Amino acid sequence: MLTDEFGREVTGVRVSLTDRCNFDCVYCHNEGLGDTRGPMDPQDDEMSTDDVVTFLEVAAEFDVDAVKFTGGEPMLRQDLTEIIERTPDQMEVSLTTNGTFLPGRAEDLVDAGLDRVNVSQDALDAEDFAAVTKSGAYDKVLEGVDAALEAGLDPVKLNMVVFEHTAGYVPEMVDHVAENEGLQLQLIEYMPELTGKPEWNIDIQRVHDWLAEQADEIEHREMHDRKRYWVSGDDGTGRGMVEIVDPVENPTFCANCHRVRVTHEGYLKGCLNRNDDLKPMGEMTKPEIRAAFREVVANRVPYYGEYMIKNGDGEWEVNDEYIEEYAEI
Ligand code: 5AD
Repeated sequence: MLTDEFGREVTGVRVSLTDRCNFDCVYCHNEGLGDTRGPMDPQDDEMSTDDVVTFLEVAAEFDVDAVKFTGGEPMLRQDLTEIIERTPDQMEVSLTTNGTFLPGRAEDLVDAGLDRVNVSQDALDAEDFAAVTKSGAYDKVLEGVDAALEAGLDPVKLNMVVFEHTAGYVPEMVDHVAENEGLQLQLIEYMPELTGKPEWNIDIQRVHDWLAEQADEIEHREMHDRKRYWVSGDDGTGRGMVEIVDPVENPTFCANCHRVRVTHEGYLKGCLNRNDDLKPMGEMTKPEIRAAFREVVANRVPYYGEYMIKNGDGEWEVNDEYIEEYAEI
């Protein structure tokens, strides 16, 4: 197991398989790289199947026990099933997808070894959904969620980014997961850093407070310093679990970060919010990838509280230590 200088063990990797996407969500940070619009067919800069598998084998040597495949839309990769099949057995495999390609494919992915899925679903109404995702595929997403449940991926986590456009639908989404068995809701605080639209921010504390009022039970998970809210549906039958992911300006969140990322081009990345720590794996041999992985972990720094610190006026700014370090390059 590799541990960074801040005592954070690296237990998971998050691998972007492509930056292509059939949606164009207005909030999307594309794993810290911005815009995904462009051609839909495979691109030369994407990691090959073998590159992905080789990286995962190295990560497994360092006792990494979980991989999440992301994008762009990872299901645009035709070799996704093969990648999952060839993922080292010790790793729990999960996928973050917009859900549109799950109908007809979910079962194959499960057979290949997929353990969990997160489906991005930001609204419960086709029109609202289209406004956020710039796509009309709402029905396909619902079908995708059903396909995942039928394939045995229970629970299916619905990801909802909470920002100006969606904050009003939170109660409906909470009801939706309470009333539909197998669903959980993950409310994700909108991260403005990478999209350039700070005016869409909402106060996530209000969502915490509102949920705390609705919940029959609140569970605090020490490991992630995260709360789970158990909420009953309006119809009084079911009960749903809701979590809030609130990374923005949150040093506790960063202190609990245990993952290294890989971009679709095969660059190791120690932090979602930074692009000044990228390390291309390119044509590296396995020993070189091992060394690169060690180095990325060694250079990992909590973003809030270390890379960004509060100045005298209470505003976040880049820690001088890191400005100087990178000015030398
Ligand atoms: N803020 C918060 N979450 C985001 N995601 C993408 N962009 C943002 C952002 N700006 C998350 C969504 C989506 C997943 C792929 O990434 O939850 O489901």
